[in-house]
Amino acid sequence: MSLGQSPPGSTAPPPVPAAGAAGAEALLALHRCIEGCTVCPLHATRTRAVPGDGPVTARIMAVGEAPGENEDRTGRPFVGAAGQLLTRLLQSIGLDRQDIYICNVLKCRPPGNRDPEPAEVSACAHFLDEQAALIRPDVILLLGRHAVGRLLPGMPGISRIHGQRVRRGDRLYVPLFHPAAALYNASLLRTLEEDMQRVRGYLDEAQAERERLQREQAEEAARAAAVRAADEQLTLF
Ligand code: URA
Repeated sequence: MSLGQSPPGSTAPPPVPAAGAAGAEALLALHRCIEGCTVCPLHATRTRAVPGDGPVTARIMAVGEAPGENEDRTGRPFVGAAGQLLTRLLQSIGLDRQDIYICNVLKCRPPGNRDPEPAEVSACAHFLDEQAALIRPDVILLLGRHAVGRLLPGMPGISRIHGQRVRRGDRLYVPLFHPAAALYNASLLRTLEEDMQRVRGYLDEAQAERERLQREQAEEAARAAAVRAADEQLTLF
């Protein structure tokens, strides 16, 4: 079983992530693995690997393409101009960037910010899968075509599906234009701002659904406890 997976046979995903100290430690350990990774040639040209940023309890995860120059220098995702726009977009729907887990498809910067190569994407793939499995967010924002290609292979292009909700198993994805693409394109920026407003609605619905599941699980546990208690009473006579 890989990090954060449900035990075999369980049907409903745990409504709360692998939270608490154990989850935070597991995420930190994963970050340390990423920082030491030398599997693909990008490790030779990076200054620092960029594992990701944010709490293991985050209800939203955002996935970008790959670190750029600022990220490579600081070891933190989305710290340049695109990151500032992302922070502003999140604030526009009442979200604090510190409550969100942000990472990338690639954990090391491709030289000159070229597009990720398929072999690099596959070498990094298990890291992203483990991050998502540990965090179990309500919604995963896919920033740009590389994130969409990685997590929703076979879907139509981002200009057709941006702002829509895509469910895959127990995960909910929302493809969005990459903030870097919207930096110098006013019409793309407007679209991204409108899509973010939709994300607010999706989050509210996902949270309501999670709370409903939690209530049902608590009620089921209370019923099972009552049946056990009644059985114990009967065995006394
Ligand atoms: N663009 C990305 O896709 N990721 C970053 O971390 C920064 C810019």
